[in-house]
Amino acid sequence: MDTQWFKIESASEREKIERAAAILRRGGLLAIPTETVYGLGADGLNEEAVLHIFEAKGRPQDNPLILHIPNADWLDRYCAEVPQAAYRLAEKFWPGPLTMILKKKPNVPLRTTGGLDTVGMRCPDHAVTRAIIECAGVPVAAPSANTSGRPSCTNAEDVREDMWGKIDGIVDGGACEVGVESTIIDLTVTPPQLLRPGGLPLEDLRAVLGEVSVDRAVTQKMSDGEKPRAPGMKYRHYAPKASVTVVTGRARASARYLLTHISEGAGVIVFDEFADLFPGHIVHKLGGMHDKKAQAQNVFDALRTFDSTDVTEIWAQCPDAAGLGFAVSNRLKKAAGFHCVDVPDETIVIGITGGTGAGKTTLLEILEKNGALILDCDAVYHEMLHSDEALRGAIRASFGDVFDQNGALDRQKLGNIVFGDQEKLRRLDAIVHEHLPRELSHRMAKSDAPTIGLDAIKLIESGLSALCDTTIAVTAPEEVRVRRIMKRDGISEAYALSRIRAQKDDVWFEENCDHMIINNYTTSSEAKENIRKRLNIIFMQLKEEKQNGR
Ligand code: TXA
Ligand code: MG
Repeated sequence: MDTQWFKIESASEREKIERAAAILRRGGLLAIPTETVYGLGADGLNEEAVLHIFEAKGRPQDNPLILHIPNADWLDRYCAEVPQAAYRLAEKFWPGPLTMILKKKPNVPLRTTGGLDTVGMRCPDHAVTRAIIECAGVPVAAPSANTSGRPSCTNAEDVREDMWGKIDGIVDGGACEVGVESTIIDLTVTPPQLLRPGGLPLEDLRAVLGEVSVDRAVTQKMSDGEKPRAPGMKYRHYAPKASVTVVTGRARASARYLLTHISEGAGVIVFDEFADLFPGHIVHKLGGMHDKKAQAQNVFDALRTFDSTDVTEIWAQCPDAAGLGFAVSNRLKKAAGFHCVDVPDETIVIGITGGTGAGKTTLLEILEKNGALILDCDAVYHEMLHSDEALRGAIRASFGDVFDQNGALDRQKLGNIVFGDQEKLRRLDAIVHEHLPRELSHRMAKSDAPTIGLDAIKLIESGLSALCDTTIAVTAPEEVRVRRIMKRDGISEAYALSRIRAQKDDVWFEENCDHMIINNYTTSSEAKENIRKRLNIIFMQLKEEKQNGR
């Protein structure tokens, strides 16, 4: 079959809209953009046309389709006994990512509703698609435009991949803004029941409807023979070819868990903040850890892209269930067949950095006295040079045999190779960066200390700050640092100054760290008192953030 491609940017492109609408009117199949995902549309009153949707998608016949209409005035053409609540919801949320299940009228064929006496109604927030439906003059039955079982399509190119040659036309109306399908609410039961979390948060529905129950199929795997109320929820959905494990819990904790549990060659789906921690893996970013809108936009793309790789195992970080997080986590969990790990985590990780002579050591001592585990990144790296075969192998592969007969690193040999050669130095940094976070995460996981201090001069530059709940830079005025270093290392003022000026300045730390502690006290007891006070405040803030689920 020839598939026509319509690029339509606005509802005023009448000629194209009429040609697209004509496909629907004559019983053809037309992929249409919506704000959620692309739909595979046909005249919902035409049984023959609807049958073709099921065939093109390879969709089971008992899985009902949603009818798309251009406005709420069309509701009573196809629905019986429409409750007031439906109009209230339409008024507030249409056009938008909400599908309402209502009693159907006899003019809606059972073929469309999978044999049910109810029908899903939705008014999509996409002006081009509404114009096409209005022009066609028929309600458009449209499931998501993916091949059945695959993740939904959020742009026209994905539709091309699944549907080219199988349908009459594809309307390219740009990328979908929401990225997950509509929220489905069943208004034929009391209290109303959420059948699928989606682009409209459950909290918004409850604000209008009061009590709303949630179908079990949303949060749990259905056992054999058990029937979800939305027939589509029983299928293993959105599934990429590789097996998926979803990791829930605080974002930083789940990142640390991934670092210690994934196998070589595993693909990962992580929040943007953690993407750099997984060099050597195929990484797909889900969006910022607090940006659920971006996560919803990215989730299907993330699941789909692994299908073109030979990754056999995918690990995914997962947001909490508030707001759009409910839909994002539901899609990830369904892709995983509800194979989830919840990472309990009470540990607080504090990243500590700062220039020489500023007083970082005093802060570390205070933390340690209070039961914290201190991980000195430089020391860990040197231990790894001795004992970590993966790191040693990577260094050997890049720089030749720089280890002596006893297996110890010949520092001079390595130094001669990398110093003075920017490219090689960068490569060594990259190797360290690839292996250090994994080892640090292992050590954090093994420890039962309530607090962990991660001490790293290049905390920010190395990306290790992603492992930390908060970061603190300790600084001090230049003259104070000069005096301290001169005394400590027995060096000249000029040399002390040159060392300090080769490091990042206070403005840089201020911009890149969560907290600054300025340590300009002359006596050590005053300095300690000041640091203690500041730490107390920082800990209080962290506790509050944790309680708010961040
Ligand atoms: O955002 C969306 O809703 C997208 C776009 C294209 O509008 N459409 C979509 O359709 O996601 P589909 O077919 O992939 O998913 C529809 C879901 C299925 O799980 C189906 O079982 C359920 O809605 N459904 C449809 N009619 C129903 C009904 N009368 N009762 C219960 N569940 C119904
Ligand atoms: Mg679907």
